Amino acid sequence: MEIIICEDVTAGASLCSEIIMKQIKKKKNSVLGLATGATMVPLYKNLTKIYKDKKINFSKVKTFNLDEYFGLDGSEKESFRKFMYDSLFKKTNIKEQNINLLNGKTSNWKKECNDYEHKIKRAGGIDIQILGIGTNGHIAFNEPGSSINSKTRLVKLTSQTIRDNKKYFKNKKMPEYALSMGIKTILSSKKVILLAFGENKSKIIKKFLESKPTKNIPATFLKSHDDLTVILDKKAAKLIT
Ligand code: F6R
Repeated sequence: MEIIICEDVTAGASLCSEIIMKQIKKKKNSVLGLATGATMVPLYKNLTKIYKDKKINFSKVKTFNLDEYFGLDGSEKESFRKFMYDSLFKKTNIKEQNINLLNGKTSNWKKECNDYEHKIKRAGGIDIQILGIGTNGHIAFNEPGSSINSKTRLVKLTSQTIRDNKKYFKNKKMPEYALSMGIKTILSSKKVILLAFGENKSKIIKKFLESKPTKNIPATFLKSHDDLTVILDKKAAKLIT
C-alpha cells in the first residue's frame, strides 16, 4: 500500500487524474471503475479539464460504476447515473456503449448483478478502480459486516450512510437499499486508488490505517490488494501525521 498525502484536495484530484491519464496513454481501451459522491467532484472536474485541453482521450475507454440506489434510474436527479452523466460522461468523449452502470430500477436484481459481474469479466477486468470511503468505512456500498467474498448484490444501507447521504434527497425519502459491486469484485481490479479528502474523513482514515482487515471496516480489506494507492489531503490525514 502506498499512501500519498497531498497539500489539498486540488492536488489530490490532480494526482489521481495523472495516474488515470498515464493508464489511458498506456492502454487506450482501459477499463475504469468509477465512484460517485463529493470526493469525486474535483476528480471529474479535473478529468474534464484535461480532456478539454486534449491531454486525454476517452474514446476507447470503458467504465463500470460501483453502485446505484435501488429504485432509482437516470431520470431521478439523485441517481448515481445522473451524477456520472452530469459530471463526466456528457463532458467528455466516453462512448455511450462503453458506459456501464447498474440499473437501480431493475425488476430482477439478481440477474442485473450477475450480468454486471459477467460484463466486467468480458471487458477483461477493471484496470483502475477509483474509490471513496464512507465515514463508517464502507467502500462502494459494502457496509460494515460485508464479506471479503461479496460480489455485486443488493445491500441494505446503514443508518450512518443514510444520515451522510440524505442531504442529496431534498424532496423524497432516501432509498434504504442499493445495488453495489462487492468487495471481491473490487479486489479483482488490477489497481485500486482510494481517495479521501476533508476533515470529516480523518477519523475513519486513522481507523482504516490502524486496523487489520475486518468486516467492521470494509475498506480494510483493500490492504490485501497488491496495488493499492491511498491519496489523502492534509485534512483527511490530520490524525495520522
Ligand atoms: C459512491 C460510493 C461511496 C462513496 C462514499 C464516500 O459511488 O461508492 O462508497 O465513495 O460514500 O462518499 P463521499 O465522497 O460523498 O464522501
